[in-house]
Amino acid sequence: MPTYKIAVLPGDGIGQEVTPEAVRVLQRVGKRAGVAFEFENALIGGSAIDATGQPLPPETLTLCRGADAILFGAVGGPKWDNLPQEQRAERGLLALRKELDLYANLRPAMCFPTLVDASPLKRSVVEGTDLMVIRELTGGLYFGEPRGRESFADGGERAVNTMVYTTREIERVARVGFEVARKRRRRLASVDKSNVLVVSQLWREVVTRLGKEYPDVALEHVLVDNCAMALVHKPTSFDTIVTENTFGDILSDEAAILAGSMGMLPSASLGPASANGRNVGLYEPVHGTAPDIAGKGMANPLAAILSAALLLRYSLNMSEAAGRIEAAVQRVLDQGRRTADIARGGDKVLGTREMGDHVVRELEV
Ligand code: IPM
Ligand code: MG
Repeated sequence: MPTYKIAVLPGDGIGQEVTPEAVRVLQRVGKRAGVAFEFENALIGGSAIDATGQPLPPETLTLCRGADAILFGAVGGPKWDNLPQEQRAERGLLALRKELDLYANLRPAMCFPTLVDASPLKRSVVEGTDLMVIRELTGGLYFGEPRGRESFADGGERAVNTMVYTTREIERVARVGFEVARKRRRRLASVDKSNVLVVSQLWREVVTRLGKEYPDVALEHVLVDNCAMALVHKPTSFDTIVTENTFGDILSDEAAILAGSMGMLPSASLGPASANGRNVGLYEPVHGTAPDIAGKGMANPLAAILSAALLLRYSLNMSEAAGRIEAAVQRVLDQGRRTADIARGGDKVLGTREMGDHVVRELEV
């Protein structure tokens, strides 16, 4: 029986609550698909700082390097917010992305038909939304040099971050964009700020050049401010979006509300394909640690569960099992099962564990 090693990094806040539900779901589908999963937990983020003093302990990195895939929860929280930038909980995640070269972050945002009314936007705007944001994840402002702060003698300060990209960095993530668009509706919007930034001018040139290799994909270039507006104005006009790190961070949060709740959205962060054709990948819900509801057992586990489906699809080539999880989630929603974030007046509100139970039960039928 094939055995896959999964590094499980629940992290902080509701990451601790939703990740075990994704693990249960994987155990369930694994049995049925005839594969075994070996799950090994490790510390990251604030909980790692508390236990070891570091947001990404070396043992965690070693475990991740040796694993077939990483199931990730979320990191950060008010407790660690006052630490210096380089020691914050979020650094654990950023360092892991960099160390494993997870350069392509796939964030699908679709409006689930049963949840249209959970979105704060009008039905006529969000209905039919089905898009994929591909965010460059290891370059740009997040990692560019120089960066830092310096003090002036007069007491003033200067702080700098650098948005920097090389041709190679742009090309490899743009290629993911074209390949993904090809498997979807063959439309790719490349988002930049080339009317102002030279780094965006290079971005646009490289994407345009690469586009010649993909004549079957309709490429358009969209300025980031315009894209932000169009996302809430006419989200159905988008299929696949590819953009740099910071723009992608912002636009993917914006896209998340199109789905009704952030509690529904999974993500995959992929690195270079290895010799066996599989991708090193990290899979995490988009929602973050949600300190306001952490510890209450009320978080929506569906984003984590759907992230487990992406793990099967992208890292283990188990598309059929991935589809079974997605179908089970769909059925649970169709049955009207709701956690607080997607409930409406009169709905019975389920907790994290109960919602997980329903998905696991649906996987048995
Ligand atoms: C995300 C988050 C992270 C980011 C934080 C937690 C560092 O906002 O994954 O979108 O900015 O990339
Ligand atoms: Mg973000």
